[in-house]
Amino acid sequence: MHLIQLYIVLVFVNFCACPTVYNYNGGYVQQNQQQFHRYKELNTMYEARNLEFGFPSAAERQATLRDGRYNPDSALPIDVDVFYTPPNGSPIIFVTIPRFGKGIPYSLAYLTNVQRPNGTELQPYPSYDWHWSHGKDCNGLTSVCRVHIDPCGRMWILDSGEIDNEQFCPPQIVVIDVPTTHLLHRYRLPSEMYKSTVSRFVTPYVDCTDPPPRGECKKVFVYMADATGFGIVVYDVQNARSWRIENKFTYPDPDFSTHTIAGESFELLEGAIGLATTPLGLGLRRSLYFHSFSNDAQVAIPLAVINNSTLWDFGLGSAIEQFSVLGKRGVQCGASAMTSSGVLLCGHYEPVGLFGWNIRNPYTFQTRFLLAENPIKLQFISGLKVIRNPWGKEEVWMLSNRLQKVFTGKINYNEINYRIMRCGLHELLQGRPC
Ligand SMILES: *[C@@H]1O[C@H](CO)[C@@H](O)[C@H](O)[C@H]1NC(C)=O
Ligand SMILES: *[C@@H]1O[C@H](CO)[C@@H](O)[C@H](O)[C@H]1NC(C)=O
Ligand SMILES: *[C@@H]1O[C@H](CO)[C@@H](O)[C@H](O)[C@H]1NC(C)=O
Repeated sequence: MHLIQLYIVLVFVNFCACPTVYNYNGGYVQQNQQQFHRYKELNTMYEARNLEFGFPSAAERQATLRDGRYNPDSALPIDVDVFYTPPNGSPIIFVTIPRFGKGIPYSLAYLTNVQRPNGTELQPYPSYDWHWSHGKDCNGLTSVCRVHIDPCGRMWILDSGEIDNEQFCPPQIVVIDVPTTHLLHRYRLPSEMYKSTVSRFVTPYVDCTDPPPRGECKKVFVYMADATGFGIVVYDVQNARSWRIENKFTYPDPDFSTHTIAGESFELLEGAIGLATTPLGLGLRRSLYFHSFSNDAQVAIPLAVINNSTLWDFGLGSAIEQFSVLGKRGVQCGASAMTSSGVLLCGHYEPVGLFGWNIRNPYTFQTRFLLAENPIKLQFISGLKVIRNPWGKEEVWMLSNRLQKVFTGKINYNEINYRIMRCGLHELLQGRPC
């Protein structure tokens, strides 16, 4: 930043009493934003020392503890999604608990109002029956890392089919109508779409080009990130077809295999994780934005290319010239989400917080802006959603889980480890209280 620009910003700060001193489209707030956002106060929707699983009966709880289906020290929440139930508009808050290891009684849950010693009680979703078999019944859910509720109120559940790296079932997409809990659709991935015992599908992103009120969400493409198989699977729902994309952009970069969060480090070499598409109605050429977990490159590929199945039969070189590295972050970030105005959000490791980037700008240090810094409450944002509430306002929901403490074995169940935080999008963008 040139001195003269800094001077202009300072004058602006001094003479303008309004809190919205910066423009999120602009670049030159980087040096000033930290003082405004340091330790941003977010609305805490949930906090817990440990997950508290509710069971159909006390006897079933005892049985699961005895036979190893439940081990209170092995669960880690990863994702959050929210559905506002009409007409009173109270949110149902969903949480995923993937079966990375054994001892997870169920892998998808919602929060109740019941307070228990370690935190609010969870209940299984859609029901306990969907989870009871731990991989024996492939009509149930085996392991769910992230979900995506679309604008038509349908939850797209991406089930990796494996527990502790053992592939029990093919990965699948299960679609539940949230208002009725009815099963609407299921798609099991064909065997060429995944690598048994290697793949771990972590993130679904649902792109629907005919949203309500006029559309019925029939024209849907689902993009699925395979973090350990280093690929992305595209599922064209209308034509019931899928294809797999794998190349240097969906791979990890060994230089970013050391993950350091809040001073603690662990090694992890993972590929594609964060997915989002250009919002409709902005008049922009639409792309899929994605990044790998162990990589600092932000990548984009036009939807017209990735949606065209005929272009992906040529291995690592398929349509390779169509990918663009928009820029490099210098640090890892996890889940991502897109606002309707075209701001791509991601939770960064350093500083620990939520960053935004307007997709119309180049992807540089100057154009990424820190929306909420909080090294205690936002280590590490593994679930991230932009939700439109019944009053038309966009809200940002985040789940943080101290991932680094799980990898380093330093989790302390006497302190708050898991949080779900919320803030209005405009409040974040304008630096106002949540
Ligand atoms: C709370 O979590 C700790 C750590 O996993 C566990 O030992 C304890 O049994 C839990 N308490 C309850 C009431 O579930
Ligand atoms: C996929 O790309 C095609 C070609 O550009 C486009 O017509 C279609 O709307 C896209 N589909 C989705 C769901 O984005
Ligand atoms: C898909 O790509 C092929 C090869 O470039 C092209 O001929 C075809 O028109 C494309 N299809 C669509 C729907 O864009």
